[in-house]
Amino acid sequence: MTARTPLEVTALRARGILDSRGYPTVEVTAVLGDGARLVAAAPAGASTGEHEAVEVRDHGPEYGGRGVRRAVRNVDGEIAALVTGRVWESIDELDAALGALGGTPGYSRLGANAVVAVSIAAARGFAHAAGAELHAWIAGRLGTAERLPVPHFNVLNGGAHAVNGLDFQEFMIAPVDAGTEEHAVQVGAEVYHALAAVVRERYGTAGLGDEGGFAPPISDPRVALDLLLTAIEAAGHTPGVDRVAIALDPAANGFHLGSGRYRIDGRELDDEGLTGYYRDLIEHYPIRSVEDGFAEDDPHGWATQAAALLGRVQLVGDDLYVTDPARIRDGAAHGYTDAVLIKPNQIGTVSQTFDAIRAAREAGMACMVSHRSGETADTFIADLVVGSGVGQLKSGAPARGERVAKYNRLTEIEIDHPALPYGLA
Ligand code: PGA
Ligand code: ZN
Repeated sequence: MTARTPLEVTALRARGILDSRGYPTVEVTAVLGDGARLVAAAPAGASTGEHEAVEVRDHGPEYGGRGVRRAVRNVDGEIAALVTGRVWESIDELDAALGALGGTPGYSRLGANAVVAVSIAAARGFAHAAGAELHAWIAGRLGTAERLPVPHFNVLNGGAHAVNGLDFQEFMIAPVDAGTEEHAVQVGAEVYHALAAVVRERYGTAGLGDEGGFAPPISDPRVALDLLLTAIEAAGHTPGVDRVAIALDPAANGFHLGSGRYRIDGRELDDEGLTGYYRDLIEHYPIRSVEDGFAEDDPHGWATQAAALLGRVQLVGDDLYVTDPARIRDGAAHGYTDAVLIKPNQIGTVSQTFDAIRAAREAGMACMVSHRSGETADTFIADLVVGSGVGQLKSGAPARGERVAKYNRLTEIEIDHPALPYGLA
């Protein structure tokens, strides 16, 4: 079913659509010889890593400079001329040709926002040509056993995703022992609703951050963690690293003062101090994962954290690795983390995303597939997490269309394939 089948694209075109923040992003439609139309859209980050692939924005008067007319023109012009001009034997071949056409690092000329949408549309095209579902085609390319992931629902937002005083960006709940995807989604939504009631009662508001989590006016991460415990129990579930666990993305770039100094809730900490702060949280709360605990340019901080906490909690690199296979291999050699965040638009193409997953796997590191804070209804990452079998996804709150599109795709795959295992890999 997943044998290699060549791809012939007869037409490729793009347009600007609105993302979940109301800014334009690139949507691409690929038309195949049999008339099939495969559509894909690029997401957009807010707390982007320094080494990410580069979006092309217009910097003109429209949308405060965030227009994507140039990126759209690049697809309609030279990328369409390339892609429709020949028969493609593999996604690797097509993605390599996109890289050669761009000719600049990080797709800074063509735009990673153009390239990632083209690459995802092409991946859908290859799966269609092979008569395979997207997740099954991905499993075939990666040689992996498929698995339904533990969803990590971001229910409290801070950092660059909210206007409150919380320095940590994301507080997630993960129904590790839910047994099925459908039940995991139910648990996530029940806790979300219980949290809404507590937040509304205590703070008089249930305003949301960019990823659909609540953004109450609090600044102490411990207060946020206590809110999660209260909500998990109020919803009739059990907090615990093997039950309903908590995961953090402090996104420490956002509160790094420079030179290994950090400020959390008004308190200044060095690398040892911040490591101790995390150790204290892990001892008091059922935290299973900490992402970007240190800034991308603070290797001493990452080494300090690893020496103290590796093996006690999952340590994830996001801005640290930017889904780049070379940076992942470097992180593995230094022993900074035991897990990697996977965001296709950070590196630019589907085949480079596959290479990042392979690099993590070869280093014995876990992967968590991730959305961006600016999203669309595109569900590619849901198929990616199932096909790659990595067992962990974060796609924001269990609410708001652009977030639940991914979770609803997972439960659709589960209905079609009831024998797929659920849970951490
Ligand atoms: P971003 O945030 O999409 O704004 O970069 C997500 C994350 O940091 O994981
Ligand atoms: Zn992150």
